Amino acid sequence: MQIIAHRGASGYAPENTLAAIRLALEQGARAVEIDVHQTRDHELVVIHDDNLKRVGRKKGKIKDLRLSEVRAADVGSWFGARFRGERVPKLTEVMDLLDGRTELQLEIKAGSRFYPGIEERVLDLIHKRGALKTTVVSSFDHVCLYAVRSLDPRARLGYLMGLTGFKTALKECAELKAESLHISRRQANARRVKAAQQAGLKVLVYTVNEAKPAARLEKIGVDAIFCNYPDLGLKA
Ligand code: G3P
Ligand code: MG
Repeated sequence: MQIIAHRGASGYAPENTLAAIRLALEQGARAVEIDVHQTRDHELVVIHDDNLKRVGRKKGKIKDLRLSEVRAADVGSWFGARFRGERVPKLTEVMDLLDGRTELQLEIKAGSRFYPGIEERVLDLIHKRGALKTTVVSSFDHVCLYAVRSLDPRARLGYLMGLTGFKTALKECAELKAESLHISRRQANARRVKAAQQAGLKVLVYTVNEAKPAARLEKIGVDAIFCNYPDLGLKA
């Protein structure tokens, strides 16, 4: 079972920062997951929430802020004093940091209904970095996934099931030619894992930080877990 560094090594460093991603690489992570939003001036930035309140103690939505305003926030201090001064990374910086051998699970938090043109921008960057083979674009926003697919028949896609029913999810994965179905721990059971794999999908489960649930998921044949401790320092 593969371990994907969830928001970087976010158990040890502030999530979705270059520090967390660097650490994941140092710890030998073979795959890193990050979350992507778009600023008012159409820059792609790596952050989980659609605002800076939790990690940056700053008001405003990412979509309404310019890149310079987003970058003014310190998104490291909330995690620990030694991370003071960490900035919200641009997606370009994250892609530059990954060496091409590390798989990138790139989660687009919302598609172009919310962030106009985000799918084109993400794909353009993936192409420019020659990272088509090493990047999996995923989203809970399935309209976004259909947009990515229509823009590029070769893009690797991961389908975050969210509140969609399992049957519908499998049908849409087939339409999208997605390679993986991403589900939560609670959604993961042996029947679903088997059915998805029989349909040709890998099954990826989030977020698993403890040894016991990790062992259960491995037993039922899950392909990978998203984990905040990519060095496998799973809490007992
Ligand atoms: O992509 C798996 C996982 O990251 C989805 O949940 O909220 O951590 O982005 P979230
Ligand atoms: Mg995510």
